[in-house]
Amino acid sequence: MALWIPTLSRKAAPKKKAASHGTALTVLFGSNMGTAEELARSIAEAGEAQGFTTTLASLDDQAGKLLAEGAVAIVCASYNGGPPDNAGAFLKSLREAEPGSLKGVRYTVFGCGNRDWASTYQAIPRQLDELLAEKGAERIYARGEGDAKEDLDGHFQAWNEPLLPALAEKLGVKLEPDGTAPHEPLYQVQAVDKPPANLLIGGAGALPMRVLVNRELQNAAKSERSTRHIEVLLPDGVSYRAGDHLSIVPQNGAALVERAIRRFGFVPGAHVMLAAAEGRRAALPVGEAVAVHRLLSDFVELQLPATRKQIQTLAQHTRCPFTRPKLESLLDEEHFRSEILAKRTSVLDLLELYPACELPFAAFLEMLPLMTPRYYSISSSPIADGTRCSITAAVVAGPARSGSGVYEGVCTGHLARQAAGGTVQAFVKETKVGFRLPVDPAAPIVMIGPGTGVAPFRGFLRERAALKAQGRSLGAAMLFFGCRHPEQDFIYADELAEHARAGIVDLHVAFSRHDGKKTYVQDLLKDQADRVRVLIEQGAIVYVCGDGGRMEPDVKRALAAIHGEAGVAKLAADNRYVLDVWAGS
Ligand SMILES: Cc1cc2nc3c(=O)[nH]c(=O)nc-3n(C[C@H](O)[C@H](O)[C@H](O)COP(=O)(O)OP(=O)(O)OC[C@H]3O[C@@H](n4cnc5c(N)ncnc54)[C@H](O)[C@@H]3O)c2cc1C
Ligand SMILES: NC(=O)c1ccc[n+]([C@@H]2O[C@H](COP(=O)([O-])OP(=O)(O)OC[C@H]3O[C@@H](n4cnc5c(N)ncnc54)[C@H](OP(=O)(O)O)[C@@H]3O)[C@@H](O)[C@H]2O)c1
Ligand SMILES: Cc1cc2nc3c(=O)[nH]c(=O)nc-3n(C[C@H](O)[C@H](O)[C@H](O)COP(=O)(O)O)c2cc1C
Repeated sequence: MALWIPTLSRKAAPKKKAASHGTALTVLFGSNMGTAEELARSIAEAGEAQGFTTTLASLDDQAGKLLAEGAVAIVCASYNGGPPDNAGAFLKSLREAEPGSLKGVRYTVFGCGNRDWASTYQAIPRQLDELLAEKGAERIYARGEGDAKEDLDGHFQAWNEPLLPALAEKLGVKLEPDGTAPHEPLYQVQAVDKPPANLLIGGAGALPMRVLVNRELQNAAKSERSTRHIEVLLPDGVSYRAGDHLSIVPQNGAALVERAIRRFGFVPGAHVMLAAAEGRRAALPVGEAVAVHRLLSDFVELQLPATRKQIQTLAQHTRCPFTRPKLESLLDEEHFRSEILAKRTSVLDLLELYPACELPFAAFLEMLPLMTPRYYSISSSPIADGTRCSITAAVVAGPARSGSGVYEGVCTGHLARQAAGGTVQAFVKETKVGFRLPVDPAAPIVMIGPGTGVAPFRGFLRERAALKAQGRSLGAAMLFFGCRHPEQDFIYADELAEHARAGIVDLHVAFSRHDGKKTYVQDLLKDQADRVRVLIEQGAIVYVCGDGGRMEPDVKRALAAIHGEAGVAKLAADNRYVLDVWAGS
């Protein structure tokens, strides 16, 4: 049975419209996790409200089909320097287009990126922008850059605010005068008595997977942190390869959902039916009775820091003469950074802080981003057992940066709560970045993965062990693992030691908080420089997994000290320096 995964309906419900200039505005997105899609949707909606005839689609939907009509606005992310899953065909068609073939196309690009991926920051939006110009299209509004590490929403707002007037001027059209009027609300919420006959809403996406094992990997007696080893049974027809990811669609925790239910005054067990306004694109289930609890637990992110636009909306819904200025003061740049971004204050936090705010539930639903699946590196090998796979999740939990209560990561909290026999909604996501064992097991490999970064390498080692058991001969393999203390967070210690004893891997472990000396994986890499150099010369692939913000750049520098900067760049270009990294906390 497929779970409904929230994706934006790209077709708006038809709207009876007054006469408008009707200029074409094609808004295209390249997006894996919904950020670029959401921003594209907001451009399309604003365009529509100001008289444009808009089309909203993924870049690949329009590969090779750009029209020299009106304007094209592109919002796109990058993934390890490559395109998102729904932008590769577009990029390819653009590369292959004849110079001059896009004459007459007028475009602009906004890139969603993250400086944690320093060397490939904004790689794809940049390429799109350059290729479009190279092939003859006209850039009618400068490319914008949003950095998720800092303040993507702020960067987008600054780029987006002058966008439509600038396009209108270039295209010689007059924006609809009523365009500046506030939108009518996207959702109407009607309370309903009866529970729905069918709680599942159709659509493709994640599948329920039974949890077989959920065990603690850290030493609970000596460590305050938690890392879970979770194994799931793969449904029929689902397979994977070592190096792939398991994407989990989480649910918000009950306590968080209860806070929202309480703030809006719903009785426990309340159900509602949503209706979408004409001409608007709805992402939440409309026309079906749905439990308020389910809407809030499955469909929306409740813990993201509030955006400026959300705070403005909260202020607009606040008549109280004492509260409204307080909310408005949060829009002051310095205040916004210190009170909202640094503390990760959410809309729900603000609603609780300011009970006088009269935000209707429908407006709350409209402003919340859709729940995003989270990726986890698969830490098992199908060769060892193809019916199940495991992930290794560092549980995000600690005193909230807001200073009040405990912050619990949505997905890792959800995972940590699943007992064996429970179910998670998940799907396998194929690695796109060459993070694979070499086809020939005799080829040498160097793996670097401190902390949770060891996850895919556990899968690699289990695969090598299975291949060895089948009689295949194995090449040299080095694993550099790092953790704080041998008695606290040396996860999979026994298994790794066993693989080392069996000659599956040459294991090097860096302890950062042991014996008064801070040792990191890159220190051990340097200690082993001669051996690493030899393996690279013999054709080794170097894999790095874990924190992309600090660890990976540090490891890369250490590798450059061994193999030279140009050498490492060449390794990367040849797909022999491959990364499975994520933004740190
Ligand atoms: C390609 C890829 C592979 C990955 N592989 C793995 C893996 O193998 N194992 C793994 O564990 N993770 C992995 N991740 C990370 C994983 O996808 C999630 O991002 C991570 O588990 C956090 O998700 P969450 O929903 O629990 O936290 P969220 O609810 O998304 O919260 C995380 C956010 O909360 C912030 N935060 C943290 N602590 C606090 C606090 N005290 N107060 C306020 N805010 C706070 C963080 O800065 C971060 O922005 C991977 C990510 C990617 C992109
Ligand atoms: N997306 C997310 O938000 C996300 C995802 C996964 C994990 N996390 C966070 O990370 C925490 C634990 O994650 P983890 O188990 O993967 O790793 P970790 O325990 O934080 O780190 C593993 C080891 O790497 C060391 N290290 C720190 N900086 C390094 C650097 N620049 N180069 C090399 N090594 C470095 C650490 O040392 P020191 O700590 O002693 O410096 C430690 O010994 C979780 O509690 C969670 O909060 C966040
Ligand atoms: C696995 C991974 C790799 C990424 N690689 C890059 C990158 O190479 N360059 C960049 O600027 N941003 C990179 N990012 C950041 C994303 O592009 C950014 O978070 C963006 O907002 C995601 O948009 P989406 O939600 O529409 O997919 C990466 C993010 C992830 C999770």
